[in-house]
Amino acid sequence: MRRPFRFHVSLASALAVAVAGTAGPAFAQSAQPVRAPSGMVVSEHWLASEAGRDVLAAGGNAVDAAIATGFALAVTHPSAGNIGGGGFMVIRFPDGTTTAVDFREKAPLAADSVMWLDENGEYSAQIHHRTLKSVGVPGTVAGWDKAHRLYGSMEWGRLVVPAIRLAEEGFQLSDRQARSFTSLIQRMDDVPATVAKFSKNGTPYEAGETWKQPDLARTLRRVMENGRDGFYRGETARLVAEEMRRGGGLITEEDLERYQARERAPIRGSYRGYDVIGMPPPSSGGVAIVEMLNMLERYDLTSMDHDGAPYVHTLAEVMRRAFRDRAEYLADVDFVDVPVHMLTSKAHADELAADLDPAHASPSAPAQIAQGHESPETTHFSVVDGDGMAVSVTYTLEQGYGVGVVVPGAGFLLNNEMGDFNAGPGLTNDRGLIGTTPNLARPEQRMLSSMSPSILAKDGKLVAVIGSPGGRTIINTVLQVMLNVIDFGMNIQEAVDAPRIHHQWLPDVIRIEEDGVDAATVKQLEAMGHQVDVGGSQGLAHSIMIDPATGDRLGAADPRNPDSGARGH
Ligand code: DON
Repeated sequence: MRRPFRFHVSLASALAVAVAGTAGPAFAQSAQPVRAPSGMVVSEHWLASEAGRDVLAAGGNAVDAAIATGFALAVTHPSAGNIGGGGFMVIRFPDGTTTAVDFREKAPLAADSVMWLDENGEYSAQIHHRTLKSVGVPGTVAGWDKAHRLYGSMEWGRLVVPAIRLAEEGFQLSDRQARSFTSLIQRMDDVPATVAKFSKNGTPYEAGETWKQPDLARTLRRVMENGRDGFYRGETARLVAEEMRRGGGLITEEDLERYQARERAPIRGSYRGYDVIGMPPPSSGGVAIVEMLNMLERYDLTSMDHDGAPYVHTLAEVMRRAFRDRAEYLADVDFVDVPVHMLTSKAHADELAADLDPAHASPSAPAQIAQGHESPETTHFSVVDGDGMAVSVTYTLEQGYGVGVVVPGAGFLLNNEMGDFNAGPGLTNDRGLIGTTPNLARPEQRMLSSMSPSILAKDGKLVAVIGSPGGRTIINTVLQVMLNVIDFGMNIQEAVDAPRIHHQWLPDVIRIEEDGVDAATVKQLEAMGHQVDVGGSQGLAHSIMIDPATGDRLGAADPRNPDSGARGH
């Protein structure tokens, strides 16, 4: 069925529509994407989408536009947009070939697997997630540089200029951003560079005020002039290493100098005749999504009510199985042998689905592994150009604003991505620590990620570009947007707006977005043996679809953040 959208979308959707400048009535019954004949950029901040759209309009390709959007988000969406973090880019070229650029952070040379134990030998979540030891060597600038050298078409400097302008001239803060900055400066009131950047000498910004970032603008100028060396060498590298020495972090000039983005072959899968193109390890996303789709292919999902108990149960059961595999097998393939082929095979899905009971929840094995510490702060954006080149990017500082520390003089935030490594050898417990071997910290290893920038194609043609933030929920958000399009026939805006669910094996609970299902469905799920937790919001899946009839690009900004925007030309 086509579900009626009960999610608190009406108002948010109307706001997103206003920001995105689409035609159509506010509070429309059926949400409509932004339509454009040639190129489209959809991101978490409408100004960044405009920066990318302008690059497309000036003749740049989708990789150029993605880089310009990514730099602009580092200015306009500082809680996740970044140059101090890392991420992934998946590309599909107009001829149907694909590639991926991995610019995930890596552990510094001085890292080891017991670095988050305190002086008593006890694991410390504080050290793991909240100190400069939680900072991974940033990858973003190297990633943009690599993608540009390999596949960009415009002059590099042109792609950085919009971000520099936004940082120098400033832009108006939304109410959401002003509130978010206020809570950041309260939390980080002992970090002068953070307070200085995100307030007016300690006085909080208010909605509508213009926010300028002069230090960040200077760093971006160095990147504009010197490319990756503007970040990994010279003044910027010196400022990062100095902050590390001051605050007990591990990253040195040598770590920065040695950082390399990598080009990797995407994960490929198929689902009901669609080609699924996903991010390979060190992301777990591509593998897990293909595993789940392989399991789901045996069910007639269209016969199920989108927000009824049988559908939610079926999703939760395939999620449970994929996340169990994630915990067991997945890590950085440069360090660990990951059986990608086996995990993404149809035969493996047959085995996994063999004990899936349509009427009863399966048990999650008790407590070998459980969830880590993650928050919904990462950001995804999608780009399609006039030739049909598609770029799907998700990048992050890990938690909102990363570790919360701005590099003095350099004006950007540091990530706390080392938190995505497991806690320490043998430290698995039922309170949520994971201590399995593959994803332990080792010098220069990349930490396991859930980020899942993805692309769908069919019969040699581009269909959709999809991704989301949200820690482990990312994998399930992207899966559900795909199912909404492929099985439920929703347009891309409806597919993005529709309520989502999440299950990650452990803890053994189905999380469902606020108003995602009714009370009777929750009761039914509980009777099947599930624990259900309804509330909150899941993901920000800024996506693009191609209209098969006209070839138009259909951009869907996720209304869960009204600052987001789809911009086409
Ligand atoms: O790479 C990962 O999977 C996480 N560090 C992403 C964190 C995240 O998505 C948090 N919020 N959205």
